[in-house]
Amino acid sequence: MSDLADRPGAGPAAQLILELLPEPVILVQGADGEPPEIAYGNRAAREVFRIELAGAPLGAALRRPEVLEAIEGALATSTNAEVAFETIGVQPRFWRAFARPLETGEGGLRQLVVMLRDETDARRTERMRADFLANASHELRTPLASLAGFVETLRTHAKDDTEAREKFLGIMAQQATRMARLVDDLLSLSRIELNEHIAPSGRVDLARTIQDVSDAIRPLTAERGVTIAVTADPDATSVTGDRDQLVQVIQNLVDNAVKYTPRGGRVAVALVAAPSLEAARAPSRTGVGLSLLSPDSSDRQAYVVLRVTDEGPGIARQHLPRLSERFYRVEGQRSGGTGLGLAIVKHVVNRHRGGFAVESAEGEGSTFSVYLPIAPAQS
Ligand SMILES: Nc1ncnc2c1ncn2[C@@H]1O[C@H](COP(=O)(O)OP(=O)(O)O)[C@@H](O)[C@H]1O
Ligand SMILES: [Mg+2]
Repeated sequence: MSDLADRPGAGPAAQLILELLPEPVILVQGADGEPPEIAYGNRAAREVFRIELAGAPLGAALRRPEVLEAIEGALATSTNAEVAFETIGVQPRFWRAFARPLETGEGGLRQLVVMLRDETDARRTERMRADFLANASHELRTPLASLAGFVETLRTHAKDDTEAREKFLGIMAQQATRMARLVDDLLSLSRIELNEHIAPSGRVDLARTIQDVSDAIRPLTAERGVTIAVTADPDATSVTGDRDQLVQVIQNLVDNAVKYTPRGGRVAVALVAAPSLEAARAPSRTGVGLSLLSPDSSDRQAYVVLRVTDEGPGIARQHLPRLSERFYRVEGQRSGGTGLGLAIVKHVVNRHRGGFAVESAEGEGSTFSVYLPIAPAQS
């Protein structure tokens, strides 16, 4: 068997492969003292850099002086070069160019291959990772700093002050609880993300699950003087899903609704059948509505819509698009939460191939809707 690298007859196939490569490849050539020109560009190169004719100057494709300089240098000295650059336009992109010289041909014509790699997505992911780490550290640090401060006070100034000690210990307990909740939510979120690409396969009775969740928070609602009213369309109870994760979805939405509803108010939790995606996304009330997540499917999928409506302060329009971002909290609202609840909801719903939307207006409460593919009828 021959070596794969020099398989006979690979010529035309290699040409075809080059043409079909998703990343741009350019062959550059130039005689000594002449400005380099483009001898060939594969399809990706022609599309990305809008080059049409062979013989065009390299500067027509790669306009950045530092990139041209690096490539011209590599061509003149027959050495490798690597340079990163950015293209501006409707969508800025980050590139890395690798220049590799070929052997010098007849008449001193030098040739060089420039391969380009699109690093935009990698950059963006890296950026998100760094931002997330910075945010998470900051969120953990705040309660930690407060704890450390009170420990110091208890050791010094408040050493013999019983009343102050009780008060500070109470605050410390709260801060410790807050940190624990943050760590729990971070762990949940990372677990959900780990299997987000694997669709759940269980069958979940949502009406039952809602009942279980609202029973569990009854002590809290009683203390707050808020009632929860549950209604369920008999056709809309079961979905294909992961019960534990759907419990988290309901819990987060109901917790928020209860938290923001004033004493004596009411939280409505409704399950509604929707025969199509369009029906599932239809507005349920007046006010501004915004989709926070939409499923890809556009077929005749039927959904179950879970709708949680509160009588809270409502949310101003400009905050709506950011609600499901990690750590995002509306300023001026001291939620005492982690800011991760709606991010968890979004990721769970995404795993379930469902959708998530909010409708709200200042002074008119909020409605959060989650829609999930209905479970096929049981035989
Ligand atoms: N029902 C609601 N009414 C008003 N504002 C809400 C409601 N639900 C969520 N929000 C706003 O969205 C933010 C993010 O919610 P969430 O991710 O659950 O975080 P947390 O509840 O931990 O603050 C909240 O801090 C709050 O500002
Ligand atoms: Mg919350």
